[in-house]
Amino acid sequence: MTDAYPIRPVTEAEFPGFHAVDFEAFNSRWPEDQVREFEKVTFEFDRSLAAFDGSLIVGSACAYTFQMSVPGTLAPVAGVSAVGVLPSYRRRGILTSLMHRQLADLSEGGEAVAALFASEPGIYGRFGYGVSSMHSRFSVRRGEGRMMIPAALEAAAEQGGLGPVRLRSVAAEPATAELAKVYEQAVPQRPGMLVRDDRWWQNVLADPDWYRGGNGPQRCIVAEDSGGPRGYAVYCVSPDWDTEGLPSGTLTVRELMALDPQASAALWADLLTRDLVGEVTARLRPVDDPLLYLLADMRRARARVSDGLWVRIIDIAAALAQRHYAREVDVVIEVTDGLLPANAGRWHLQAGAGGAGASCERTSAPADVALPVASLGAAYLGGTRLGTLARAGLAAELRPGTLAALSTAMSWDPVPWSPMIF
Ligand SMILES: CC(C)(COP(=O)(O)OP(=O)(O)OC[C@H]1O[C@@H](n2cnc3c(N)ncnc32)[C@H](O)[C@@H]1OP(=O)(O)O)[C@@H](O)C(=O)NCCC(=O)NCCS
Repeated sequence: MTDAYPIRPVTEAEFPGFHAVDFEAFNSRWPEDQVREFEKVTFEFDRSLAAFDGSLIVGSACAYTFQMSVPGTLAPVAGVSAVGVLPSYRRRGILTSLMHRQLADLSEGGEAVAALFASEPGIYGRFGYGVSSMHSRFSVRRGEGRMMIPAALEAAAEQGGLGPVRLRSVAAEPATAELAKVYEQAVPQRPGMLVRDDRWWQNVLADPDWYRGGNGPQRCIVAEDSGGPRGYAVYCVSPDWDTEGLPSGTLTVRELMALDPQASAALWADLLTRDLVGEVTARLRPVDDPLLYLLADMRRARARVSDGLWVRIIDIAAALAQRHYAREVDVVIEVTDGLLPANAGRWHLQAGAGGAGASCERTSAPADVALPVASLGAAYLGGTRLGTLARAGLAAELRPGTLAALSTAMSWDPVPWSPMIF
């Protein structure tokens, strides 16, 4: 297959042809040339892969060089993206060749872990990816967002040296430095979050006409006290009135980040009570969003949960040693990996009390737990429980008690969340 459609990185001159594959494959309705320039800002040519039929690019994939929060630390992660095959070339194994080549490239060095967002969940399991984070979509209707703000909130803030939260409307893009100050503190608090450099901030806060889809311009509020920003919400509104003349605008939260419960409550309380808004929607929210527990009636959030980040372990020893664990662990894991044979076999994972300073080495000792590499990827960020996977037949306990111990050690609080699709 690789011979039929040779694979190699693209040059800058070839970028239009590379981007055209995604444009076709994703049925894009946006202006191609403008989107291409937008994508180019974060594109890494040396990490791109294109499959060629003669001079025509028929398949695409790329990787971004990210730092991601993983349990207890930050780690380099390859962010896989721009995966597509021209509609007229589908089901000839081109995606398979691209994924095999990318995994082989990644295994030669660099990141121990790869991650991606899947357009459809059926695609990546066969390549060893497992669902490692989930996210929620909320839609709260006018009058249904009453919040039970605990009286203890303000007292707790004062004890922590925080002043009362004030909200200030700003233009998002000129306020990037303030937003970044909040975001940078939020990253290490939760697995799955990606460090953003200037290019990614430019990407996240871009507000081109073609992206608005009927919404008004992007807006932003910052939650702060005299010590500086403690949270922010980036949002847009599609104003509307229904046939009876009642206001029925939709407010869409693009990103809401809060460093403490007071900032979170203040931001949500403001957005959920906006005038002329019939519904507030927020996608890509963490499944344990404090909003659910602040609402007087959490069912009114109409939460819908979906798969978020898919994780692929590229180098088991490095991946398992670099993250921290929720408790001490001492277990032998037998891993199957049909695509990266260096991962296959038995691994002795050890971490002492406190769960930091882990080691993971090859061993010939008998295995305690057996699982496919995709299950390890799923459990890697601490949100998907190995116990849950075992009950679905996706991990097996070979010595009593060891699976529960490993499951607890790999779990993490808070659950993972990645607020940015890449
Ligand atoms: C998804 C896509 C990249 C697959 O490319 P492809 O070259 O047709 O894939 P392959 O021929 O290598 O197929 C490999 C296997 O994956 C399966 N597969 C492909 N697309 C699938 C999908 N959307 N859902 C479930 N399974 C899928 C194939 O049936 C095949 O299974 P098999 O080996 O059991 O026969 C292509 O259809 C596409 O570009 N889709 C639209 C864009 C998109 O969704 N990209 C992914 C972004 S995350």
